[in-house]
Amino acid sequence: MPTNSAAWLIAPKAKLLEVKSAPYTSPRENEIVIKNGAVAINPVDWIIPDMGKFMFSWLQYPCILGFDNAGEVVEIGPGVTRFKVGDRVLGHANGTDKNCNSTSHGGFQSYTVLLVNAASPIPNTMSYESAAVLPLCASTAACGLFEKDQLGLQHPSASASPTGKTLLIWGGSSSVGCNAIQLAVAAGYEVITTCSPKNFPLLKKLGASQAFDYNSKTVVKDIIDAFEGKTTAGALSIGPRSAENCLDVLDKCKGTKHIAMASFPVPQRPPERFALLSLAAAGISGMANIWVKSKTRGIRTSFILGSSLLYNEVGKAIYVDFLPRALAEGTYVAAPEPQVVGKGLEFIQTGFDVQRKGVSARKIVVSL
Ligand SMILES: NC(=O)c1ccc[n+]([C@@H]2O[C@H](COP(=O)([O-])OP(=O)(O)OC[C@H]3O[C@@H](n4cnc5c(N)ncnc54)[C@H](OP(=O)(O)O)[C@@H]3O)[C@@H](O)[C@H]2O)c1
Repeated sequence: MPTNSAAWLIAPKAKLLEVKSAPYTSPRENEIVIKNGAVAINPVDWIIPDMGKFMFSWLQYPCILGFDNAGEVVEIGPGVTRFKVGDRVLGHANGTDKNCNSTSHGGFQSYTVLLVNAASPIPNTMSYESAAVLPLCASTAACGLFEKDQLGLQHPSASASPTGKTLLIWGGSSSVGCNAIQLAVAAGYEVITTCSPKNFPLLKKLGASQAFDYNSKTVVKDIIDAFEGKTTAGALSIGPRSAENCLDVLDKCKGTKHIAMASFPVPQRPPERFALLSLAAAGISGMANIWVKSKTRGIRTSFILGSSLLYNEVGKAIYVDFLPRALAEGTYVAAPEPQVVGKGLEFIQTGFDVQRKGVSARKIVVSL
């Protein structure tokens, strides 16, 4: 049996992760175990210890966080036919999901148990560091775009017919945004997006038809003008104030009036002292603002749970039917670029600190 170790979060609000041994768990039906070659860091990974029991209140401690994994299959469970030992894969780890809540499925360890439909083969030319940038953010984008109670768009495929509709993706250079652009384009939608001007070329390369500077004073009006004569497929809002801006745009456009929100309308970095109180106050006022604006304008809003696709038909549509072929053919790329902060589980804490300071079109990655 392999020797496993993990970066443990020992208690809610623990200041530092602790790297020490962890049990190795064999896969059950429709699961695989991978030896991780790289993991990536998401904002939620440091938000959970910052917030304590306020977020993911069901977590039992000590726990193992982490959603983004890439590595080699070392064991397959009963009923698994998609993979064999030795395959190189990426996978969305679900250890912190309410309906999993299991340390064996956490991302930040040497060996992770993955659901078979939460994993995709990767090409030999793709490094584990590149592959690890994709899972949670591809999942989150896919939930917002394709789940029936979100935007419910046509699924992506190698031959999706153009829909003639245009999607607004606010926050295109975030990790979620880079995936959302590629998925929406592969599903037959035109994409209009926002980012800093230095990231315009990247987002156009990923398939966006137009990109606007979200810091411009005229950005909302400019995007409304860009939608002139087009039919919207709705909006995906990512980042601070993104939902409010999308409400202002969709109010003036023809087509689907629905915003799938990746980000809660609260600041991600509340002040250190009274953090929970200030967060709660900002959250109540942010949600109230969105509720009032959406009700008075007849625009639907829905919040995305980035792991929900693992338990519905969208997970299979992405990880089984779409990604393996698109990655192999190079029509879907690992974006944004990985920024590797070190090698070894000890560097996951470093990764939290770097991610927390803020990134621009980069994904923080740790090699293992
Ligand atoms: N609901 C879920 O399940 C779920 C899952 C994953 C992530 N999320 C949330 O989704 C958001 C993005 O996560 P991520 O990991 O993709 O973030 P990220 O990569 O860390 O985001 C960094 C990017 O955000 C952009 N940005 C910053 N402020 C912005 C603004 N006001 N408007 C538009 N873009 C802005 C920056 O763009 P420039 O550098 O171009 O300025 C930067 O490239 C976070 O709020 C995260 O908590 C939610």
